[in-house]
Amino acid sequence: MSYNLLKGKRGIIFGALDPHSIAWKTAERVHEEGGTFVLTNAPIAMRMGQINDLAEKTGSEIIPADATSIEDLQNLVEKSMEILGGKLDFVLHSIGMSVNVRKGRAYTDQNYDWTQKGTDVSAMSFHKVMQTLYKNDAMNEWGSIVALTYMAAQRVFPDYNDMADNKAYLESIARSFGYFFGRDKKVRVNTISQSPTPTTAGKGVKGFDGFIAYADKMSPLGNATALDCANYTVTLFSDLTKRVTLQNLFNDGGFSNMGVSDAVMDTFMGEE
Ligand SMILES: NC(=O)c1ccc[n+]([C@@H]2O[C@H](COP(=O)([O-])OP(=O)(O)OC[C@H]3O[C@@H](n4cnc5c(N)ncnc54)[C@H](O)[C@@H]3O)[C@@H](O)[C@H]2O)c1
Repeated sequence: MSYNLLKGKRGIIFGALDPHSIAWKTAERVHEEGGTFVLTNAPIAMRMGQINDLAEKTGSEIIPADATSIEDLQNLVEKSMEILGGKLDFVLHSIGMSVNVRKGRAYTDQNYDWTQKGTDVSAMSFHKVMQTLYKNDAMNEWGSIVALTYMAAQRVFPDYNDMADNKAYLESIARSFGYFFGRDKKVRVNTISQSPTPTTAGKGVKGFDGFIAYADKMSPLGNATALDCANYTVTLFSDLTKRVTLQNLFNDGGFSNMGVSDAVMDTFMGEE
């Protein structure tokens, strides 16, 4: 169902790789709600992914950008404003990658070059995106910037590895940059802390099947899907949430406030 919540709004969506991607679902929902946008992803993802299908479906242009490259981001922001015909109202940062996770390297045995690469891609890129937007005065007043995160920033999930630290850094950047963006440009900055979701990035985490099943049993409303996350993001891009900023917002079916559930207890006691 569409509510026309984003009619006339323009933005950039990072991170749509394939139809499972949270950013893909978000692009579809933003389009349904009347928003227009530029799609972007790392040049390598252009070759591997199916982003052209999404661009066609949503009438969007694609501008490749490695989110760790200031040069690429500068080009992206300038061209996006040209294509969309003005400043931006919303930006979604939906980017994450850990080389240690990918290569099965334990948290207690990090390759620090890989750790640094993961931090740059997963967290510092958010600062780089916002700094580029800020310096180019690219956001309209009452615009909204959202990044996606996971609860391993607050609690221990051993197999999430160095991504836990990256997410803690990402959430801190949202607050720190959000202050300046709010004070100077009236732009809000938030992170959404999403349930485990079966995407390329999600499934890359060791033990993901157990992880997602456990979270589902623990949450009174069950895991939030990629579509749920897209819908939540639409509300944060809309004018209905104008003074929500500097927040880490859980979209997780209630998981983050649970201690134990009957369903988990039953499984633990072998009664199921
Ligand atoms: N899937 C989950 O369980 C889950 C849970 C909570 C939060 N998140 C977060 O959601 C976001 C989106 O991930 P997803 O689950 O949709 O997986 P995904 O694999 O579909 O998306 C990750 C995206 O990051 C992009 N990316 C990687 N390196 C990049 C770079 N250098 N420059 C630009 N883009 C780059 C990839 O190309 C890909 O499109 C990530 O921040 C992820 O950590 C995912």
